[in-house]
Amino acid sequence: MKKLAILASGSGSNAENIANYFKGKGIAEITLILSNNPNAYVLERAKKLGIPSFVFSKKEMNETGALLDAIQKSGAEWIILAGFLLKVPQNLLEAFDGKIVNIHPALLPKFGGKGMYGERVHQAVVESGETESGITIHYVNEHYDKGAIIFQAKCPVLKEDTADDVATKVHALEYEHFPKVIEELLLNDK
Ligand code: GRF
Repeated sequence: MKKLAILASGSGSNAENIANYFKGKGIAEITLILSNNPNAYVLERAKKLGIPSFVFSKKEMNETGALLDAIQKSGAEWIILAGFLLKVPQNLLEAFDGKIVNIHPALLPKFGGKGMYGERVHQAVVESGETESGITIHYVNEHYDKGAIIFQAKCPVLKEDTADDVATKVHALEYEHFPKVIEELLLNDK
């Protein structure tokens, strides 16, 4: 059974979906849910799911090593970013080389990079007149949204779609694919 830690800054619907997907399957266990935001709803979800959580400051992430410590103590071998808005620090990238995965709510390399998250991404997609959007699941490296792409799925963007409409379609793709892609990675991680 592989152990996963999930980092999230906001609502955490993907975190919950992943936890539910793996429940009872004997493939993965979520050992810790971590957030940089003490008010993030993902912490409520963690409580309901009975998964330990850890809130950390930027200092604990970038200077004291407390974030890395917490993840290592939880026994996690993989780190999943699900709506995590900060840049992953070097010590995590080194300790979990090739084992940190992010989901981005658009078709990278378009609509990625610093400041491109949540609603802003969907707004940019609508404003640009794109006819499709989707999700990108990728490895994490030291550059925002630049790690190797593992998987993409697309949805149509209609002329009349608002950013909210696109967000709804993208979320549906996230819920459908993210757990399965993680499962694949874990099953191939011998
Ligand atoms: C998702 O759209 C994810 O792709 C992006 O942030 C959003 C998080 O949503 N990185 P939630 O917190 O999982 O509900």
